Amino acid sequence: MTGLNWSRRSWIKAGFAAGAAAAMPQWARSLNTAGFQLNVTGADSLRAHAQAHGLLFGAAVDPALLDLDGVSSGTVTDPYTQLVQTQANIVVAENSMKWGPLRPAPTSYDFTQADRMMRFASLAGQRVRGHNLCWHQQLPSWFKTTATKDNARQLLVDHIHTVAGRYRGQIQSWDVVNEAVEPRDGRGDGLRNSPWLGLIGPDYIDLAFKTAAEADPGARLTYNDYDIELDTEQQSDKRGQVLMLVRRLKARNIPIQAVGVQSHLKAAGPQPGVGLQTFIRELKKMGLDVYVTEMDVNTRGIDGAAEAQDDAVAQVYRNYLGMVLAEPNVPIALTWGITDAHTWLNQSRTHRQDGAPQRPLPFDSDYRPTPAFSALRTAIDTARPLVQAEAPQPGRELDTSQLYQPFRVDGSPSGTATPAGPTPAPKSFVSPRQQ
Ligand code: XIL
Repeated sequence: MTGLNWSRRSWIKAGFAAGAAAAMPQWARSLNTAGFQLNVTGADSLRAHAQAHGLLFGAAVDPALLDLDGVSSGTVTDPYTQLVQTQANIVVAENSMKWGPLRPAPTSYDFTQADRMMRFASLAGQRVRGHNLCWHQQLPSWFKTTATKDNARQLLVDHIHTVAGRYRGQIQSWDVVNEAVEPRDGRGDGLRNSPWLGLIGPDYIDLAFKTAAEADPGARLTYNDYDIELDTEQQSDKRGQVLMLVRRLKARNIPIQAVGVQSHLKAAGPQPGVGLQTFIRELKKMGLDVYVTEMDVNTRGIDGAAEAQDDAVAQVYRNYLGMVLAEPNVPIALTWGITDAHTWLNQSRTHRQDGAPQRPLPFDSDYRPTPAFSALRTAIDTARPLVQAEAPQPGRELDTSQLYQPFRVDGSPSGTATPAGPTPAPKSFVSPRQQ
């Protein structure tokens, strides 16, 4: 049928469809024109794709928002819980394992939220990252008046023994020390003038790692930092200082197995490149893994409506993860949150100049997959070959010798195979894109 001999009824139908499409959000329109719907559950989830490619993918979570009863009885209807359960095979607490939330008073601990997350992860068959044991921020208010040069070593050691000891055998990796490098503080060793440095001296880092190794010998001990991704002068300098710190630790036989690259990226301006790639390869030579620990993409400086933000964010996910996940010693990537409904980027100063909310994560504030979701999934699929994936057991170390083995599936050599191994996807879950 050509446009010329269309019946009146066809024209009315076409006009109605076009009008309806124009009123729809961009993601629904593009799905309609493409003629398919994006399934994000089961074998189509980030979790399943990561598993099929020998990776752990996950997100920072707020344990208070998770429906534990629903997960244990298989009746989850809450969309936040559904997304965390279906998309992640590793989780980390966004705040609940930091000193401030864990330590209401010098002599007491509050593990309520941290325990909730551990229980959730165990029910959902997920691994857990611990974040973090030693940082200059989010210290409890009593710390300033209570910690002294005389008691600081003991405070740090007791905290690490108590916290890492409590979850011994259940943590895939611990961020033992977070953000200890800041070249702008002007010290020769590149270390930040943090309260820990002031109270204990530079060997607080050795102390933290050695104590963490005693408390949980199975966890991969990680140094985690930000602003080490770009090839700008400042970030290259900081990345170099982090590498030197790791070299010093290794030279002293301090137990450290991984470096976390936080990856709070910006869509506007320079993008990560060869400097980070070289850094990852240097760490590999030393036997260390690199984890993408806190990825999100800030769109400050990108003009336009939500669609423009989404495209820019997706491009960063595609390029960045395409680059870093292609490095064999990068087996884990986490985003800092799972939906735009709960991103720290909308909590404060990082808001965009036009006042529009940030859209930095794979799901938007209505729990629908964003273009970043597809970019992330494509990066997982293309950066790594398929593996014979056995679902990692909670509490067990990932056997990296089993990773990166090509997985042959008859008729689908190009990476379209259904991943081996079960991935829990509650029957009740209906993707917003399927509705
Ligand atoms: C952030 C949380 O997302 C916020 O909710 C909180 O108010 C401040 O901390 N680097 C880190 C994370 O290592 O712990 C930070 O998390 C983000 C930057």
